[in-house]
Amino acid sequence: MQKYTKISAIQEILLSEKRKGKKIGFVPTMGFLHEGHLTLAERARQENDIVVMSIFVNPLQFGPNEDFESYPRDPERDAGLAQSAGVDMLFLPEAEEMYSGSSIKMHVTERTDVLCGSRREGHFDGVATVVSKLFNIAGPDNAYFGLKDAQQVAVIEGLVNDLNFPVNIVRVPTVREEDGLAKSSRNVYLSEAEREEAPVLYRSLMDAETFISEGESNPETIISHIQNRITAETSGEIDYIEIYSFPELKEIRELHGEFIIALAVKFQKARLIDNIIIKRTQEEKQNV
Ligand code: PAF
Repeated sequence: MQKYTKISAIQEILLSEKRKGKKIGFVPTMGFLHEGHLTLAERARQENDIVVMSIFVNPLQFGPNEDFESYPRDPERDAGLAQSAGVDMLFLPEAEEMYSGSSIKMHVTERTDVLCGSRREGHFDGVATVVSKLFNIAGPDNAYFGLKDAQQVAVIEGLVNDLNFPVNIVRVPTVREEDGLAKSSRNVYLSEAEREEAPVLYRSLMDAETFISEGESNPETIISHIQNRITAETSGEIDYIEIYSFPELKEIRELHGEFIIALAVKFQKARLIDNIIIKRTQEEKQNV
């Protein structure tokens, strides 16, 4: 595995590989890799000739009161894990390298006024900026994103569509611990007691899926069930529990089509997010 810190160096080599007809798979990350990231890399390995991973804790996507400084970092360990997952090229730029100029400011105007987007001002502007830059640097055929950050997937699909990036976005299902907790770099911030409670988030989403398959089609009923279970069984403070069409993230009155049930819960030092995406046709609805 080759490491790069300079944009010009990795861009040049990837351009020449592309000219030789090599298919490039790209996995953007902020490091502190866990199984979720490695699953993205392994999938990229299966579907491409060259696998590129970036590790860059992007200052632009953190708000002033967020955890940019304390975001967990371990580049040595990450390099070993990336290599074992089949990564060929690891891109580790410094912030000065990525943001030497500031003549352009991106602003995402759709799919960001709900869920995390409405609570983390400027977050998705920062994500869209860095992902656009990384796409221009790596020139991937396929780029891999985890559905744990489903709103991010929705925003990036919109970005690729609107700005005509010639890249295929691959949605990869959330990787979970055995007890259902979604893998996240931020899980290390949970206390022992909170870690015990945290799987309730996913369990409440699974309950919701069962109710919907049994015929419940009112979003409010589903939301209040999830809310009751999380309140009763965890010490976390609910930030949101919301249901929208996916990937448009528009309000829906009835549960059909493709939709997302997403939640965020604040524990002492970690804010956890999770979601499920359900596809329900009109036919399925009528058959219940
Ligand atoms: O999902 C992440 O880790 C980040 O938001 C991403 C896509 C690498 C952009 O910084």
